Amino acid sequence: MSDIIKIKTEYLNKLKNVSDLKEINQIKSELFGKSGKISDEFKKLGSQNSEERKKISSELNDTKSELQNLIEKKIKDIEINEINLKLKNERIDVTLPERTFNRGKIHPVSQVIDEISSIFSEIGFSVEEGPDVENEYNNFTALNTPESHPARDMHDTFYLDKNKKFLLRTHTSPVQVRTMLKGKPPFKIIAPGRTYRSDSDQTHAPMFHQVEGLHIDKNINMAHLKGCLNYFIKEFFEVDKIKMRFRPSHFPFTEPSAEVDIGYEMKDGKIIIGEGDQWLEILGCGMVHPNVLKNVKVNPSKYQGYAFGIGIDRLAMLKYGINDLRAFFETDYRWLSHFGFDPLDVPSSYRGLSR
Ligand code: PHE
Repeated sequence: MSDIIKIKTEYLNKLKNVSDLKEINQIKSELFGKSGKISDEFKKLGSQNSEERKKISSELNDTKSELQNLIEKKIKDIEINEINLKLKNERIDVTLPERTFNRGKIHPVSQVIDEISSIFSEIGFSVEEGPDVENEYNNFTALNTPESHPARDMHDTFYLDKNKKFLLRTHTSPVQVRTMLKGKPPFKIIAPGRTYRSDSDQTHAPMFHQVEGLHIDKNINMAHLKGCLNYFIKEFFEVDKIKMRFRPSHFPFTEPSAEVDIGYEMKDGKIIIGEGDQWLEILGCGMVHPNVLKNVKVNPSKYQGYAFGIGIDRLAMLKYGINDLRAFFETDYRWLSHFGFDPLDVPSSYRGLSR
């Protein structure tokens, strides 16, 4: 048997049982490496006469490619096996039950603030913000409420220092002052946010929420105020008709001033807005007092307008049938999962997103 056939038989045999990449590479270098067996045979060719050389070289080439092909095939097979094994071990069991997780809910107050902002933005109001910690000037003095004024006590103010210079704002009205001081008329803004008064029962919490409205321009009158509130209440409660009543009232920063009630009735323990003969107060409003305009450097003989302050928590309670205000701020997760809103489920009244 020629050396070539011997090598061929030996290695074909060896290769049959190999299943490891390392062993194959070992065989590869034994055969085709620098002093590999096949390489050596090629070297020997030089010493043959030309006829022998022709014969042997063709035999050698055949053997070389046969062994090489087999080796390449083996390597491929091993790689495929490895991938299959990996796939098998890392298989995802789609029948496993999903992992539970708690999805957060949007608090009714945040939801209602978004709804209100979206409704007012449709008729050209932009949204302003002011800080919870205010100075006494913005909260009272600039709003035509001097130091001796009884309204300061009426507000049950939380003061933050001995000199009563800093306080937790008792209403969102100081944002009127901030907005007008930093800009030039016309102004058409709403300002939602937290407000504070030392008060606590079923319908009052020491921290609550208001949204301020302010519209100042050259020809704004009380009819605009009525039209605007009428539109807002209809949109907010998603009803076509409402009953609304303006009661004369007093605020130092508006003249004339009014409080607004909406008509409702109770049917099967539910509040129906727009029917019946019960009245519920939801906001204070009026035409901005000339003194306020003077304080913020707006000329009252040129510009005038209206302002309003709506209790947000009340609106949320009415719209979503929540009867104890204090629950809003108790951060009870069970309460929130019941009354909160799914962030992925956009209600029709939240039109800012759905349109
Ligand atoms: N700031 C008033 C309050 O908190 C409400 C209000 C705002 C009244 C704007 C008139 C104009 O009671």
